[in-house]
Amino acid sequence: MDKLTVRDLDAAGKRVFVRVDFNVPLQDGKVTDDSRIRAALPTIRYLQQQGARVILASHLGRPDGKVSDSLRLRPVGERLSQLLGKTVPVTGDALGAGTEDAVKRLRNGEVLLLENLRFHAEEEKNDPKFAEALAAYCDVYVNDAFGTAHRAHASTVGIAKLRPAYAGFLMEKEIANLGKLLENPERPFAAIIGGAKVSDKIKVLKNLLAKVDIMVIGGGMANTFLLAQGKPIGKSLAEPDRVEDARAILAAAEEKGVKVVLPVDVVVAKEVTRGTEYKTIPAEKVPASWHIVDLGKQSLANIETALAGVRTVLWNGPLGVFEIPSFAHGTKAIARFLADRAADGAAVVVGGGDSVAAITQQGLADKMTHISTGGGASLEFLEGKELPGVTVLLDRKPEASS
Ligand code: 3PG
Repeated sequence: MDKLTVRDLDAAGKRVFVRVDFNVPLQDGKVTDDSRIRAALPTIRYLQQQGARVILASHLGRPDGKVSDSLRLRPVGERLSQLLGKTVPVTGDALGAGTEDAVKRLRNGEVLLLENLRFHAEEEKNDPKFAEALAAYCDVYVNDAFGTAHRAHASTVGIAKLRPAYAGFLMEKEIANLGKLLENPERPFAAIIGGAKVSDKIKVLKNLLAKVDIMVIGGGMANTFLLAQGKPIGKSLAEPDRVEDARAILAAAEEKGVKVVLPVDVVVAKEVTRGTEYKTIPAEKVPASWHIVDLGKQSLANIETALAGVRTVLWNGPLGVFEIPSFAHGTKAIARFLADRAADGAAVVVGGGDSVAAITQQGLADKMTHISTGGGASLEFLEGKELPGVTVLLDRKPEASS
């Protein structure tokens, strides 16, 4: 990576503001998925060991500039404390005299978590005064919030212009793994792109077409491609206004010699609900009043054949209605298949909530090469966009040639 990282920083005794992405799911006041907290631990522990005074800051949800008790960071602080084996206090507010005092009282190696930044509307507006107030807490700034790097907010961009700004280890790892996909993937390189809508992924599909050898399209968005091929899709979710885009992608793939794998058989259901009637049928025989909800066995077999010798795979998005267990088989089967590819030495990179859930539910997370913590951020990165939270970090100067 061409950015300076925490390794380049002499952190001993310094007050280090670390932007993390602790936007994690909560239920009944408990964190239900702590992956993003765990992913930030290497940076936090490293800074503690260096003797830094660590000020962590994150958003949680979208409180739109208002205090919302259900979006307080206390449950996150509790989980972080368990993971670090030491209590991490959470301030009552990101700003104010109490927080300033708490920062002043921090000793070397101690960690403090500021309350949800988005309780202040100024955060999302990248308000200069808010950024200055945050910068006043610290000597240096570290961004480890890859999941929020596509947002130009006060804590991701404003503050980074006011203090020397470094990348954390998670940021470095995400950019290295996702960047390799776009720059020099080992071939053959396959992308498996699923999820509900073509419109959400159109830019990613277009950018990846120039990079991949094989493109598997699944999930609700595949229905729009089936429509583009003139196949009946019954009452399935689709975007008729995106049929032309789907056609253009298929034509571009053909021109570039990219093999596109679309469903040839599908599971159809009477309703998209639990307990409904369902069956597997050929993709061109979807009855008018049924919904496509998952891949069929032949489609799975086709994907496995197409990807048998791959060296690099990117997977983003579910291949069926994953939240309904009867329609999660295709997505779960792909997770298992990719764990085997990774065991064969292929680089397997996964992003997107449901794809990651299919992996973690089956205990396969450790088998993958990289699981991205970024949702929107990883998509924007894969679209080829610059992420403002990365751009603003200090550049590594090229070594002077002798
Ligand atoms: C995410 O969960 O994708 C990030 O934390 C960013 O959240 P946001 O979409 O609310 O900015």
